[in-house]
Amino acid sequence: MNKGNKLYEGKAKIIYETKDKNLVIQHFKDDATAFNNLKKAKVEGKGVLNNRISEYILTNLAQCGIKNHLIKRLNMREQLIRKAEIFPIEFIVRNIATGSLTKRLGIPEGTVLDKPLLEYCYKKDELQDPIISKDHIYSFGWATNEEIREIDRITLRINDILSGMFRGIGIKLVDFKLEYGKAWDNETEKKEIILADEISPDTCRLWDVKTEKKLDKDRFRKDLGNIIQGYQEVARRLGIMPEETNISEVNFGKATSIKFKKK
Ligand code: TMP
Repeated sequence: MNKGNKLYEGKAKIIYETKDKNLVIQHFKDDATAFNNLKKAKVEGKGVLNNRISEYILTNLAQCGIKNHLIKRLNMREQLIRKAEIFPIEFIVRNIATGSLTKRLGIPEGTVLDKPLLEYCYKKDELQDPIISKDHIYSFGWATNEEIREIDRITLRINDILSGMFRGIGIKLVDFKLEYGKAWDNETEKKEIILADEISPDTCRLWDVKTEKKLDKDRFRKDLGNIIQGYQEVARRLGIMPEETNISEVNFGKATSIKFKKK
């Protein structure tokens, strides 16, 4: 599938057109940002790892009946995906209190929540993605009541599936962010809601079960060092990267030679 014009460039990904109006290519960059762009860096290898990790997770979710945008991974940094009209909302799920929840409400760090907590943020960089209520969503027409009901249901199911998947490899799924969009369905000839964007250590908080070591973007946000090693550890435990590969030793200029396990 040939890459056409650039349609959109975000902080960590670029979207390109294809010849098919319903399909686009998602390219994973190495750029890392935090606190809405206040902090920026290139983390070599991050794009390659997120491409693989997100492919793995979205493929598994599809097998569990969760419709998502992934068609197939094309190469080290790119995926062919369904084009979707993205809801301007970040759907956050929290199982353990940390991050902005502890700052905003003073909930002690590490508090295990009785049930998953759903939060909504308005996707607007200039406003630092503010937290919003469902009524804001309905008032401003960002999604309908029915759409949010469906998305909440899918989101909680994804939380169940992913919490189990990560627990099985000794990782706690602390919290994460999802994005959804509406995409054309050729079969029903209607638009349908699908999971979009990515699920990776950029968009999840992942703690080692025993040591609570952070294996996600908090290593970057909090200057903990060894960012790529955290992401690599997640890939390794998911079984998509052979034990001996050390991504920090790979030359990404020539890139293509990191060996991943074949499925
Ligand atoms: P927060 O504690 O900073 O609100 O983040 C909650 C979760 O959402 C955490 O797993 C990181 C993820 N997240 C994103 O993926 N993108 C974002 O822009 C923000 C603010 C959070």
